[in-house]
Amino acid sequence: MTQDELKQAVADAALAFIKPDLKPEVIIGVGTGSTANLFIDALAKEKDDFRGAVASSEASAERLRGHGIEVFDLNDVDSLAVYVDGADEANRKLHLIKGGGAALTREKIVASVAKTFVCIADESKAVQTLGAFPLPVEVIPMARSAVARKLVKLGGNPVYREGVVTDNGNQILDVFELNIKDAEAMETEINNIPGVVTNGLFAHRPADVLLLGTSEGVKKLTV
Ligand code: A5P
Repeated sequence: MTQDELKQAVADAALAFIKPDLKPEVIIGVGTGSTANLFIDALAKEKDDFRGAVASSEASAERLRGHGIEVFDLNDVDSLAVYVDGADEANRKLHLIKGGGAALTREKIVASVAKTFVCIADESKAVQTLGAFPLPVEVIPMARSAVARKLVKLGGNPVYREGVVTDNGNQILDVFELNIKDAEAMETEINNIPGVVTNGLFAHRPADVLLLGTSEGVKKLTV
């Protein structure tokens, strides 16, 4: 199977996973990226069976609206039963690296509100140790160089993602060569650098379920 077919398979599996919980009052948290886009397209088939969605990016909001799905501001929503999103890397504890699409901050916010976080990914994203994928860090623009110097002290090699402005008006540093032995400690340490909005480690709020697309079918992993 191609990577695109594996992404389609996990998007369909995510829809099957949440379908029993769809009700007219339900609002679904929806992520960002190519795998999440396939989930949005699948979700559109059930649009009469739920109320709407909260999106983790302007791009996903636009795609949802294009399907006629109502998009809610998170401030107007008390709770989310489920959040469905992709990842750049996932380990066996379901700790993730996210943010390849620069939407990490809103993704982390929406994931933090959801009761269940369903991660959807093809098997190329499964790793033993996080960090081969450069860790995205969203920074306040004036702090970019100061944050980069601190990241070098942590052993990383930060590279400015030129030309990218996040939905929140900030910039992204992609940090190569980090040795992420303790993902929770690293997530906290980087978030504590003044000027960091958030980083793409999802260890304090890992996924609850990983639907992993493999050539033998979709595997459902939990911790
Ligand atoms: C967006 O900022 C990311 O966190 C995506 O969820 C991640 O990059 C996965 O994207 P793909 O589904 O396109 O691989």
